Parts: sequence; C-alpha cells; structure tokens
Amino acid sequence: MARFHPLPVTAVDRLTDDSVALTLAVPPGLREEYRHAPGQHLTLRRVADGVEIRRTYSICSPAPAPGADGPRTLRVGVRLVDGGAFSTYALKEINVGDELEVMTPAGRFTLEPAPGLYAAVVGGSGITPVLSIASTLLAREPGARFCLIRSDRTTASTMFLEEVADLKDRYPERLQVVTVLSREEQQAGLPSGRLDQGRLTQLLPALLPVGEVAGWFLCGPYGLVGQAERALRSLGVTKARIHQEIFHVDGGTASGPASTAPANSTVTVRLDGRGGTWPVRDGETLLETVLRNRPDAPYACKGGVCGTCRAFLVAGEVRMDRNFALEPEETEAGYVLACQSHPRTETVELDFDR
Ligand code: FES
Repeated sequence: MARFHPLPVTAVDRLTDDSVALTLAVPPGLREEYRHAPGQHLTLRRVADGVEIRRTYSICSPAPAPGADGPRTLRVGVRLVDGGAFSTYALKEINVGDELEVMTPAGRFTLEPAPGLYAAVVGGSGITPVLSIASTLLAREPGARFCLIRSDRTTASTMFLEEVADLKDRYPERLQVVTVLSREEQQAGLPSGRLDQGRLTQLLPALLPVGEVAGWFLCGPYGLVGQAERALRSLGVTKARIHQEIFHVDGGTASGPASTAPANSTVTVRLDGRGGTWPVRDGETLLETVLRNRPDAPYACKGGVCGTCRAFLVAGEVRMDRNFALEPEETEAGYVLACQSHPRTETVELDFDR
C-alpha cells in the first residue's frame, strides 16, 4: 500500500536553467518501504493555500540490489513546467534541510536486470528513469549492454549530462549514447533536428541490431514516445518488448465516448484492507467518489498518465476518459485508472490492493 512519509532534502543540484535534482535521505526504519525497481517514481505532495498538489518525479539513482539494504538516499529529477505549481516551488523554494512529503515508490516502467542488449529513446526529462534503469543494469549485469538515444533542444537544456558522461566513462564498451539536438548544430556525423517516426526508422537500424534488443524503453513527451513506438513497430519489434512512460500530454484526447453514468450508481472499494460502498455523483470520476470518503486513496496526476490510481475492476463496467499509463495487458487483465473511470453499470467494484 502506498504511503507518504516526510523525508529530508540533503542536496539540491542545479542540472540546467530549468531543472534540478533533489536528493532525499531515507531513515533506516523506512528503507524497506522505499526499496524501488529501476525506472519507478515518487509522488511528492505539498499543501499550499489549503490546496493539495501532488506530482510524480522519476527516481534517477540506481536501484538497490535484491538482498541488499533498501536505499539510503533517493534522487529525483524535476524540470520546470510552465505555470507548474510544484516544479516552480521545487526550483525556487526547496532548500537542503527542508522536509518533503514523499509517497513510497510506484510505477511499472521498470527493468529486471538480465544479460542482453537493451535500448532507450528518451526526450527531455524522460532521461530521468532511464538513468536509473541503465546504471542499475550495467552495474548488476556484466553481460548486459545499453544503447541510449536521447533528444533535447540544446546541450544547455540537457538534463543529467554529467551523470550520463560518467556512466559512459565507467562502461565504455557496454554503453552507447547518441544525442540528437533539435535546436543546435552538432559536430559532423552526429544527427540533429527533431526525432520523429521517419528519422527513427532510419536511425535505429544504423545504430544497433534492432531485432536483438530484449527491451525498449521509451520515455518523454507523448509525441516522441508515440513516434518511437510506431517506428519500432514498423521495424518489426513486438509490443511485448516496448515499455513506455509518458511525461507530458498536450491537451486532452478522450478515448471513450462521453456518456452519463447510470442514475444511482455506487462504487464498492477495497483499499488497504478496508472496504466501503458510496454513491457516485453525476459526472465525477470514481477516484473523486473514493477520495470524498477515503482521502488515503492513491493518486498523483489525475490525468491518466502516472498510473498511481490503478485499481482492479472486480465487478461492473467503467468507461475511461483516457489512458496513457496502463499497458494493453493490464486493461485486458481488468485494471483501470480510477482517476479516468466513470461507471457504466449501476454497481462497480474496485480493488486497490491487488
Ligand atoms: S492519478 Fe495518475 S493516472 Fe490516475
């Protein structure tokens, strides 16, 4: 069950003009709770002027090995979003010694280290979870190789330049890094311009044996992740080998037809071992219904992107407005995003504990 704990900030490192890395110390008694897989994220919570804000930020530090102690520190990357309430606070106000409310790690954009070739296509702050994935993999698996294809606007706007360079120095034979800058000329031979499906379809086979890659990790803005996925599919890569995490979605693209919920619909919920049944008000999402009665229900983005509100649909039917978080196997298995779900049947039953 996801829980929040206050963790002290032990470092604030400026990465670029518009991004920082925050390091948080984990006290010994909480280290097991904050044990994470490479690629997972943390949700940070802040109450300002009586309004609670939550945002998810990926962990960039390596994951602890199974059997080793849980992490002593956690490091996350935060990039300023225009008008972003939490990121503005993170960049301008958070100092060493402050305490942040931090949810235990979550997320399924993860890698179980194993020998083989892995690759990532990332844009902007999408490097953050992939830094954890690549550093954990290379440290734990001498038989693993990683190819990182990253795109950004300019060198100055590129997050974790030093960390990626250090990783390359440590594993020169096993880590390949290709950087594509959209607004800066590079040395001869290096690609520049925007990465799209057409360019990736040409670039990827020139860089690595696409068919031999055991797992592809795509992370960044919705546009880039979608273009990269289509490029990989056109090159014959199966969906099962493609993992995606979307950081920003511009505008809303509802996936289901608008419809009103049946009158008098109710939702029955199991959450952290306790149950309850409550009426769903017209137009609200199931997460909103649950939160009115159980403020401890897990959520972060409320936008169908982070997957924190995932629940198992035990009974009834729901309509989801949009889903950028769940894989097709998860929806087929019966999982839904509570923040995007509206009842289609009079009774709906959700289990947040599965
Ligand atoms: S809270 Fe992020 S997907 Fe529902």
